[in-house]
Amino acid sequence: MTHATDQDRVLIFDTTLRDGEQSPGATMTHDEKLEIAEMLDDMGVDIIEAGFPIASEGDFKAVSEIAKRARNARICGLARANFADIDRCWEAVKHAEKNRIHTFIGTSPLHRAIPNLTQDEMAEKIHETVSHARNLCENVQWSPMDATRTEWDYLCRVIEIAIKAGATTINIPDTVGYTAPEESANLIRRLIETVPGADEVIFATHCHNDLGMATANALAAVAGGARQIECTINGLGERAGNTALEEVVMAIKTRNDIMPWRTGVDTSKIMAISRRVSTVSGFVVQPNKAIVGKNAFAHESGIHQDGMLKNRENFEIMRPEDIGLSGTSLPLGKHSGRAALRDKLNHLGYDVGDNQLKDIFVRFKELADRKKEVFDDDVIALMRSGENAA
Ligand code: KIV
Ligand code: ZN
Repeated sequence: MTHATDQDRVLIFDTTLRDGEQSPGATMTHDEKLEIAEMLDDMGVDIIEAGFPIASEGDFKAVSEIAKRARNARICGLARANFADIDRCWEAVKHAEKNRIHTFIGTSPLHRAIPNLTQDEMAEKIHETVSHARNLCENVQWSPMDATRTEWDYLCRVIEIAIKAGATTINIPDTVGYTAPEESANLIRRLIETVPGADEVIFATHCHNDLGMATANALAAVAGGARQIECTINGLGERAGNTALEEVVMAIKTRNDIMPWRTGVDTSKIMAISRRVSTVSGFVVQPNKAIVGKNAFAHESGIHQDGMLKNRENFEIMRPEDIGLSGTSLPLGKHSGRAALRDKLNHLGYDVGDNQLKDIFVRFKELADRKKEVFDDDVIALMRSGENAA
């Protein structure tokens, strides 16, 4: 196992402000980044990857300012495998009480071809750059980009070099969302068993969602021994995005019987940060998105609404309050039944008898056939028109 003190504690590493911001069109302003970082810090995220300091003057300033303001979280910046990137990263994160340099290089055959390095040349570069980062900062994360498409022997070799050079966290990125859950678990498990020194470091998982498996892959990696999950709010990130923070955190909380781990996240803050990230990034959350979608705690059909009114556990496995919502919503539409209409009328202050309910239900169904959703004002209007006709 890869953790120093508490075997069940899984660190949450949020990269909304780095990988998330790399989504085309998701750029955030300086002030917006500070605001999101403060929300992440408040909700108990362990590590905030605040940006890529050498990428621009704006990124450098944002990471530096976030580092100065952080109260709880460790502040991390990203750096490629060269001294200039690493030095710039350190200049930004050094202001934080707890800081981290995250340096990476693409290790798969395809990625090695980009800088045109042989395996030996790349191994040497990894040794030099990780050692340099470790001389600046006592907390260094190293990532073999495209790890899941890197040859097994070479992957083991470069991880060993990074550990010997002083890396304290080894992140295993599934850069192109290529892996599957069983593979993800086995890869981490075998690395921990095979690489000398693996038990001295934390293994992390960084999954992309190209095949829709990022959350499953991240959780499988934890089952294999990873103790840091890299994720973003709303699953924002390159292409199809990263593992969604809200999904892994709520999966661990809800299915703790089979995933007996702990995070430090205050889940009641999830909805607020999801909405804020959506607003500042301009990325609308799809209505049926797990946990934070508009419909995640909404029930429209008659059978479901009736079941919910009798016992919410009939159709809900999580409490909406646990993510900061005020409650379940039972929107009225053409699939709704009498029980939900009566419940809505009661909430609006109307006490109707069975005959009156029968009459209003007929007119409600006529209206619902014409409208996607029947709102409170529509129900009030139906009541009033019924009263006027009487
Ligand atoms: O997806 C990826 O490989 C990355 C690395 C920089 C860790 O984001
Ligand atoms: Zn990534």
